[in-house]
Amino acid sequence: MITTRAPGKLYIAGEYAVVEPGHPAVLMAVDRFLTVELTEAEGRGMVHSSRYGRGPLTWVREGESIVVDHSPFDYVTAAIAIMDKLRAERGLAPRYFDLRISSELDDPSGLKFGLGSSGAVTVAIIDALNRFHGLELSTWQRFQLALLATISVSPKASGGDLAASTYGGWICYTAPDRSALLALLEGGSLAEVLDAPEWGICRIAPLGEPAGITMLVGWTGTPASTERLVDRVSRPEAEVSAQYARFLEDSREAVEELVAAWGTDPSAVLAVLRRCRRLLQGLGALRGSTIETAQLGALCDLAEAAGAAGKPSGAGGGDCGIVALPDGADAQEILSRWREVGILPLDLHVNPSETEGA
Ligand code: PMV
Repeated sequence: MITTRAPGKLYIAGEYAVVEPGHPAVLMAVDRFLTVELTEAEGRGMVHSSRYGRGPLTWVREGESIVVDHSPFDYVTAAIAIMDKLRAERGLAPRYFDLRISSELDDPSGLKFGLGSSGAVTVAIIDALNRFHGLELSTWQRFQLALLATISVSPKASGGDLAASTYGGWICYTAPDRSALLALLEGGSLAEVLDAPEWGICRIAPLGEPAGITMLVGWTGTPASTERLVDRVSRPEAEVSAQYARFLEDSREAVEELVAAWGTDPSAVLAVLRRCRRLLQGLGALRGSTIETAQLGALCDLAEAAGAAGKPSGAGGGDCGIVALPDGADAQEILSRWREVGILPLDLHVNPSETEGA
């Protein structure tokens, strides 16, 4: 049996802007994992998992339409498909396998926390199939394949979650142009796509530990659909494009300041995170989309009232918010106020290591 596991992630800053090629974001990999067990099978293979198998579809109403969300199973099949393309390209024989998937990235009742479960399942399956077929892929190649699998399901996804899940730790990430990669994928071999110059602007830079701050994480209890939020927010119409361009530049400046202050200046880190919250509020107002829901607003306000900085993490609309607290400040005060308003503190820490396997 081959066992791999991949950590979940949280966005610290730069979300939304990061979907534009070359715009940076900061993320952390967390010490909660999704685990994949792969065993060779006879005749046919199966995916064993309540949530990551052919599980229930979820949908929402949008106007008169019912919109079905991508299911986590779509990422499972995309990861298997890309690895099978690589196997075939390398001239290796097909082999059946069973996958058993278990996850600490979801609430036991089946709700996702927003900790990057789709990214983690993609990364962990690619790692497992790399070992199964003896492909000897580098960490960078596994990240590239995870991104190619992900954008075949969700073309706008930045891949920040995949980078955090593949590399671990605190990272600064900038995405490549995914539409250019998808176009290459249609015409060329995977070997060519993995070596294409289009990857040149993609950066995954480790940041090390932040100085003088502790991160708190709160879950709103409401899962959100990143893809629908990104669809609504990152498609600027002509009249809003100037403000969108301004958002992108402000976000870039904030992330650059954050990276500069990261290991040295906790009060500057807090100031940047407060600014990032305002930038996301502005983006939400610009697009008529609720990034900061009432619960996320309460999570951040309670943190700010206690001298900390809080913001939604990722697409917002539910899921998690993060708080940076100066060392020595009273975390218990914030955590107990959160509980009073129905926000569940998640006990998460950075996961420093690369994707692990045995
Ligand atoms: O909601 P999450 O944690 O999946 O993060 C989404 C982050 C976005 O920047 C909004 C989208 C993306 O693909 O990076």
